[in-house]
Amino acid sequence: MRANAGSPSRSQPRTPGAGALDKHSARSGIRRLQNVTGLLLLASAAAGVYLLATDRSLWLLAVSHAVGLVVIVVIDLALAFLSFTRPKSAYLPSVAAGVLGVTLQLGDVFTAPQYGMAVAYFAHYLFGLWAFDILLGLQVAVLAMGVAGRPYARFLARRKSRRGAELNYSRRSFMKSVAAIAGLVGLGVVLGSVKLPPPASTQNSTPDSGSGLPAGAIANKSQLKVGAPVYFNYPKGYPNMLTLQSDGTLLALSLLCTHVCCRCTVDTAAKEIYCPCHGSLFDSNGRVLRGPAVAPLPTVTLNVDSGGYVYPTGIRNPGPCHP
Ligand code: FES
Repeated sequence: MRANAGSPSRSQPRTPGAGALDKHSARSGIRRLQNVTGLLLLASAAAGVYLLATDRSLWLLAVSHAVGLVVIVVIDLALAFLSFTRPKSAYLPSVAAGVLGVTLQLGDVFTAPQYGMAVAYFAHYLFGLWAFDILLGLQVAVLAMGVAGRPYARFLARRKSRRGAELNYSRRSFMKSVAAIAGLVGLGVVLGSVKLPPPASTQNSTPDSGSGLPAGAIANKSQLKVGAPVYFNYPKGYPNMLTLQSDGTLLALSLLCTHVCCRCTVDTAAKEIYCPCHGSLFDSNGRVLRGPAVAPLPTVTLNVDSGGYVYPTGIRNPGPCHP
């Protein structure tokens, strides 16, 4: 890509690697390739919609990613429309969208620590989603179309009309397209990152100083009842529940699903723990009843002092979601 459109020429410049082009073959070449790009962008938007509709972890765990993906879908649709109707105008923005799409999708993998997961574990999950792989493949294909259209774009960029170059093909224009698309996606991510106050039922899940408990204690064993869990955070920000078993022993389980770390909900009546993201089900001891999770819920190790106060001391078999 050159720094600017260059000097006007109505002759038929030779484009390296493309042989001698004339304006008709260059125009029809760009049109043909942008028609394919338009179809790829439509397929990419469809894959994005499928992911948004089927992967609830996007909405429950990573809302900013979900909103970012919504913006990408809208941009794909707009660029597909432009590719069919104004192929020369769509060329540079669609290449920019392809570059950003590939970058953002691969970059997704490195957001794993934000959700308490290792990068390798999250990458295994993401690349195991066929819609994610197809989305990535389509963005790469959009880029390939951009590379294939380069000779035509360069040729047309050298043809001047009264309104300027026939096709805008400069580094500055490309960077502007990248910045505009990145700005829109970034805005979506920022909006999706706005934290709403948690529902009242999940507030104060860690006993506070007004609970009458010593610092660090989560309950007093004498006040626990079978079938009435106590919820607490340990370590800070990690949800767990403490239950008194019918044999008098205590059990504390992490409520982070061992699939991709969504917060589970507890059905005390059914004695089941359910993950709303992809439907995993655990029994009241944390054992897997139904996947996709394969590992049981981690347990929190406990210490009970002489006064009956219960303290969490560590996480056993922490799995993918705990430090
Ligand atoms: S996060 Fe996928 S089933 Fe729980």
